[in-house]
Amino acid sequence: MPKQNADEIFKEFKEHSISEFFRRNSQMLGYSGKVRSLTTIIHEYVTNSLDACEEADILPEIRVEIRELGENKYSVLVSDNGPGIPSKLAGKALATVLAGTKFHRYKQQRGQQGIGAAGCTLFSKITSGKSVHIAAGTSREKYECDITIDIKSNKPLIENMGELQGEVSGTAIRADFGDVKYENSDHGVYEYIKRTALSNPHITITLLAPDGKESTFPRATSELPKKAREIKPHPLGVTTNDVLEFAHRSEAKKSSQFLLETFSRMSPGKIEETKSIVKDLDLEQNPHSITWDTAEKLVSAFKQIKWMVPEMDSLSEIGEKQIEVAMKNILNPSFASVTARKPKVFRGGIPFVVEAGIAYGGNSGKPKEAPKGEGEAEMQISEGNVLRFANKVPLLFDASNCAITEAVKGMDWKRYSIANFDEEPISVFVNVSSVYVPYSGVGKQAISQEEEIIGEIKLAVQDCARSLQRHLSGIRNQNLRESRYKAIMIYVKQLSGDLAEITGAKREELEKSLKKLVEERYLLNPEGASASPAEEKAEGVEDAPSGQ
Ligand SMILES: Nc1ncnc2c1ncn2[C@@H]1O[C@H](COP(=O)(O)OP(=O)(O)O)[C@@H](O)[C@H]1O
Ligand SMILES: [Mg+2]
Repeated sequence: MPKQNADEIFKEFKEHSISEFFRRNSQMLGYSGKVRSLTTIIHEYVTNSLDACEEADILPEIRVEIRELGENKYSVLVSDNGPGIPSKLAGKALATVLAGTKFHRYKQQRGQQGIGAAGCTLFSKITSGKSVHIAAGTSREKYECDITIDIKSNKPLIENMGELQGEVSGTAIRADFGDVKYENSDHGVYEYIKRTALSNPHITITLLAPDGKESTFPRATSELPKKAREIKPHPLGVTTNDVLEFAHRSEAKKSSQFLLETFSRMSPGKIEETKSIVKDLDLEQNPHSITWDTAEKLVSAFKQIKWMVPEMDSLSEIGEKQIEVAMKNILNPSFASVTARKPKVFRGGIPFVVEAGIAYGGNSGKPKEAPKGEGEAEMQISEGNVLRFANKVPLLFDASNCAITEAVKGMDWKRYSIANFDEEPISVFVNVSSVYVPYSGVGKQAISQEEEIIGEIKLAVQDCARSLQRHLSGIRNQNLRESRYKAIMIYVKQLSGDLAEITGAKREELEKSLKKLVEERYLLNPEGASASPAEEKAEGVEDAPSGQ
């Protein structure tokens, strides 16, 4: 059999660009399934708008418009009142995979890798053949242009650049997509936007759906969330690869300086301790010469040293009050309870914090409309009443792999007076915040099942569930009393008539005193009784979203 030699085989040897890679593996970016793909697109644009507004201290106002162009073809417009994108960088921002302002920041943000926006441009190109249109206004300029991505080179192609007149501030991106579908389900855009409003009570967000229905979720508070602070990584939270990357990127002249500048809780004393364990570490040497072997030894030495706990103020939580206001604003429940845990660490050195809330009654529970799936596997798992969030971003897919699902579904809900968790009007809200959220897949839709994280989620949800249980048993006792009262009152009329005949006393008076007696015994115990939803609703909270 004639064999090909290496030269012949390697004639075909080619290099591919990163966008070529994602063109072939778009499912890695969340583009799998028509409904999920559309939700991914909205997620990417909306999170970028939120990140940008947050950075610029602007109360976000976001508008999402989706129009149907044909079967499985839609046009999407997302606009915000953020700082805008300078025209010089628009191409890179929207059409270069792995380009962005948020790289290498050890800071809690929604975006991180510079894949989102360019991923949308790429997906638009490969499913519609069209460019993406951007109109933006910064403090210096107002412009519009069409941008697409040259897949071979991972470079932007810009056309029709022009100046814009009038009031333009912020960013508006319009793009066409094929292979997507708008659907009202647990996994659809409406649900995504509703949950984004739940976890970001300071935003106003509007959705114009393909059927022309417009829904606005008005902000429930004008308080901007606490800004996340950039921190240095803790020695216990890094891998060999991290250390090597930090070392090779470092501008420090000596390795000792590199250690001091790079890691939190590092001190001259700790450097000495490290050196005493990693004998071949040359503190005088340039950090660029640190090898994989040394980096590995450093990581293992870090594990033997006693460190102060990581800085916790890098975290930006939603806030107990804010969650409560948001739940009341959107779910209009008859009962709500929220618990925020104190920050903890996982894997030894990565800070995280869990917030949880339970809403009961009103619009809590599974969405009324049953999901009409398109056969995607995750469609079968209804997670309508577990609202999962990571860094305030709703997680709509891969529920079965998620630490939040594991913790919530693993609880014995009967102990909290919830006989049938899936069917009752209960919504459980969980937000996990961290500089480094450990996602269990590239789609970033599930939190990996780290023991410490599951433990904290359980404690937070259990705390809310105990309050719910007290509330429910209060109602139950009240209901019991009420039904006894009603049963006895049937006889009061009869009895007072009979007694009046026997004793000659006045019937009305007998009835009055008997009634009073029964009331005292079985009713009028307002403590523990439920207030009506309207009474419990926070003051000053605007009404539930219009249009739905
Ligand atoms: N709406 C927006 N307003 C301002 N800047 C934006 C907006 N959308 C995207 N950008 C910029 O484009 C960059 C790339 O976005 P993206 O590809 O989603 O990556 P990432 O969000 O991970 O940084 C962002 O880092 C940001 O600088
Ligand atoms: Mg992004």
